[in-house]
Amino acid sequence: MNISIIGTGYVGLVSGVGLAEKGHQVICVDTDPEKVRSINEGVPPIFEKGLAPLLEDLVEDGRLVATTDTVSAVKDTDVTFICVGTPSKPDGSIDTSFLKGASNDVADGLDAKGRYHMVVVKSTVVPGTTEDITRSALERKGFRAGEDFGLGMNPEFLREGVALNDFRYPDRIVIGGLDDKSKKILSTLYENFDVPLVVTDIKTAEMIKYASNALLATKISFANEVSRMCEKIGIDVYDVMDGVGSDHRVKRDFLNAGVGFGGSCFPKDLKALIYFSRAQGIEPRILDSVVRVNEQQPIHTVNVLEDMMGRLTGKKVAILGLAFKADTDDVRESRAIPMVKELRRRGARVVGYDPQAADNFAEVVDNFEPVESVEEALTGADGCILQTDWDEFKGLVEDDFMVMADPVVLDGRRVLNPDDLPRIKYRAIGR
Ligand code: UGA
Repeated sequence: MNISIIGTGYVGLVSGVGLAEKGHQVICVDTDPEKVRSINEGVPPIFEKGLAPLLEDLVEDGRLVATTDTVSAVKDTDVTFICVGTPSKPDGSIDTSFLKGASNDVADGLDAKGRYHMVVVKSTVVPGTTEDITRSALERKGFRAGEDFGLGMNPEFLREGVALNDFRYPDRIVIGGLDDKSKKILSTLYENFDVPLVVTDIKTAEMIKYASNALLATKISFANEVSRMCEKIGIDVYDVMDGVGSDHRVKRDFLNAGVGFGGSCFPKDLKALIYFSRAQGIEPRILDSVVRVNEQQPIHTVNVLEDMMGRLTGKKVAILGLAFKADTDDVRESRAIPMVKELRRRGARVVGYDPQAADNFAEVVDNFEPVESVEEALTGADGCILQTDWDEFKGLVEDDFMVMADPVVLDGRRVLNPDDLPRIKYRAIGR
C-alpha cells in the first residue's frame, strides 16, 4: 500500500520504517525541515537501535521519503497514519492540539472528487478522541465517514530502545475500526505480520492502549512496594518475583523493582487515564497509588544511599545512567531527575554519566554538567547510584570503583553481582 505517516517521532519513524521494510511505500511527514532533511539523507533524527542502517537502505531504494507537505503526502497515498505527540497538560489531560492540526491538514489532502482514503490515529489518545477530533475535522470539510474516508485507531506498543524489534515481532496488533471496510483495510495492511490481530471498535482500541500501559506500570509499582518490605526483612524481591512470576497468570515481566518507572509513556498515560477516570465520575484509587509509589521510589533510593553513606552534606555522589532506561537517549521523566533534586536538597554534590543521554539530561536539569566517562564520575566520589542498566555498566569490575573516595554502591537496576565486589559496600534496591 501507499502510506503516509504524519509525525516522525519514535512512533512515526519506527512505524514508517517498519511498514516500508514490510514492502509498503511510505512517505513520512514532519513540520520540522531539519528532521525531514535528515530522514531523506537516511539518518534517523533519534537514537534507536538498528534504525540507522535500515533507514539508509530504505531511502536508497526509494521505499521511504520524507516531506514537510502533509497535503501532497495524503494526496499521493491511500492510507494515512497520524503519529503526532499528545503531551500532558498541567492538569494531566492530553493536549490534542497537534492531533487537531494534523487532522485538519489530512482533511486538506483528501480528494474532493471522492477517492476513498483511510485515516488511522496511532497517537495515544483517550477513548472518544479519534472520533471527536479526527472524524470531526474531516467531516467539517464535507467528507463523509465510511463513504469518503475510513477511520481507524491502531495503538502502538513499542518500547524505546527495542522499538524496531517490537514493531517486527509484536505480541498482537490492535485494530479499532469505524466500520467493516476500515477494519478490513487495516487487517490487510498488517496481513504479512505473523501475529494475532485484535479487531475491535475505535474506543476499545483507544482504551486497550491505556489499560495496557497502566497495568504494566501497576506491576512495577507493586514490585517496588513489595521490595521495600523485602529490604526490611532481609530477603530479595527478585527471588520473590521469580516465584510470583512463574505463575503463567502473572508472568515475570515488569516485576523488576528498582528506582521506579520513567519515560515518555507510563507517567503521562497514567495521568491522562486518571484525569479521564475522574471525568467519568470514577475515583481511580489504584492508578493514584501506582503514581504515588513511583514518585516515592527515587526518594526511597536516596534514603537507602544515605543509610549507607551517612549524612550527604558535602559528599560527592555519582549517578551512572541518566536516561529513563538503558539503550535510549531519552531523559523524559527519568528517575535521575528527582534523584538529583533530592540529593542536592540534602547537600550532596552530584555528577552524572550516561553513554547517550548526557546532553539531553543537561538540558532539563539546571546547572548539571555531565562528565565524559564512568571513571570521571567515580573518581573521588563518596557514593554511587546505578540508575540504568546500560551494557557498559554491566561490564564494570571492582577495580573500576576503587577510584572512589569511598566505594559505596547502590544498585538501582541489578546491574552488578555483589559476589564479585568483596571490597565494595554494595546494596541493591529490594535486597
Ligand atoms: C512503554 C511500554 O512498555 C510500551 O509497550 C509502550 O508502547 C510505550 O510505553 C508507549 O506507550 O509508547 P517505554 O516507555 O519505551 O515503553 O519503556 P519500558 O521498557 O516499558 O520501560 C518503562 C519504564 O519502566 C522504564 O523507566 C523502565 O526502567 C521501568 N521498568 C520496566 C521497571 O522499573 N521495571 C520493570 O520491570 C520494567
